[in-house]
Amino acid sequence: MSEIAAPTRYRKLVIHQVTGDFRSSTSVVEEPWRDPGPGEVLIRNEYAGCNAIFDKNLCRNTIRYVDVRPPFDMGVEAVGKIVAMGAGVKGWRAGDCVAATRLGSGYREYQIIEASRPIKVRDATPEILALIPSGVSAMVGLERIGEVKAGDTVAVSAAAGGLGHFVVQLAKLRGCHVIGITGSDDKLALLRELGVDRPVNYRREDLHEVLAREYPTGIDVAYDSVGGEIFDAFVEHVAFRGRVVVSGHTSDFDQEIEFVPQPRAYRKLYWKSASIRGFQNQAFPEHFAEAAERILDLYYRGRLRALVDPTPFRGIHQIADAVEHLLAGKNAGKVVVKLR
Ligand SMILES: NC(=O)c1ccc[n+]([C@@H]2O[C@H](COP(=O)([O-])OP(=O)(O)OC[C@H]3O[C@@H](n4cnc5c(N)ncnc54)[C@H](OP(=O)(O)O)[C@@H]3O)[C@@H](O)[C@H]2O)c1
Repeated sequence: MSEIAAPTRYRKLVIHQVTGDFRSSTSVVEEPWRDPGPGEVLIRNEYAGCNAIFDKNLCRNTIRYVDVRPPFDMGVEAVGKIVAMGAGVKGWRAGDCVAATRLGSGYREYQIIEASRPIKVRDATPEILALIPSGVSAMVGLERIGEVKAGDTVAVSAAAGGLGHFVVQLAKLRGCHVIGITGSDDKLALLRELGVDRPVNYRREDLHEVLAREYPTGIDVAYDSVGGEIFDAFVEHVAFRGRVVVSGHTSDFDQEIEFVPQPRAYRKLYWKSASIRGFQNQAFPEHFAEAAERILDLYYRGRLRALVDPTPFRGIHQIADAVEHLLAGKNAGKVVVKLR
């Protein structure tokens, strides 16, 4: 049934204690091999995608819909190849390339998953892993929550990041004017390559001043995953009927809550009929399949670039390095770990 020789054991990453820190919370363990049961497929994971913020939150047990009780399997997304199918599985063949997303299935050398869950892809490459699920989240957040329209002015924080570089490109494909924000000069050139009309390094330029001076009518869609003062600037400069999408808060997710004296939010929103909208992909599963199909199609037709961060990480033991690399803000594009 299988083209790939089955080992007797394989490795995976688990949380063995909740310390709040990724490296000290996690360890590599071996798991005995088992064949897929009825309705399941067995996948050999080739690459895993790094979701450092989510991962660290797991190690703090602060993901609202998850109760972490060690040992707890880690990692969400992987691309790989089907190795074997359980009884009654139709539509898959050994050797098929797939992308799969499920909590506990990513940071491991093999996974067993319900046969209905993987998405068939042409190749098991890191670019596909960037698209699913980061590109999918970017698409759902921008279109369904941000309700982006042609001609909108769209501002994106962490615009060169795993999620952000897709938001930028999808907005450009819609015919929007895009302001791309980063914290590093190195990433400015990349933002220009992606088509960003106004790249901003917020460490060198005052974002409030740039928006006030160059965008006096405001931003129609502000897509924020950084939070802090960038979020404040977005809310301040949101346009008439504009939408601020809260898609994360990388800058302070693991810090004490900061209390900021500000006028109440309605003072900033009411007269503009503007809104602040939370977006967490977990809450919108109904859009996943359609968006995945569309994002892959854009990529296959050469309309969309999938950026993979060039820093190489190889093997289960380097996942902690990959997480720390992203948490230090050093990445451009999706951080990926090669598992073989
Ligand atoms: N809403 C959803 O459903 C959803 C889905 C996936 C991810 N997310 C969230 O989206 C965010 C981006 O995730 P990602 O995996 O694509 O990461 P990423 O954007 O590739 O990496 C994080 C980036 O944030 C920027 N950053 C700004 N302030 C930072 C700080 N204090 N420390 C570290 N980095 C900082 C850095 O870019 P610059 O130097 O360019 O600023 C860094 O490269 C995360 O907050 C994640 O939780 C949300």
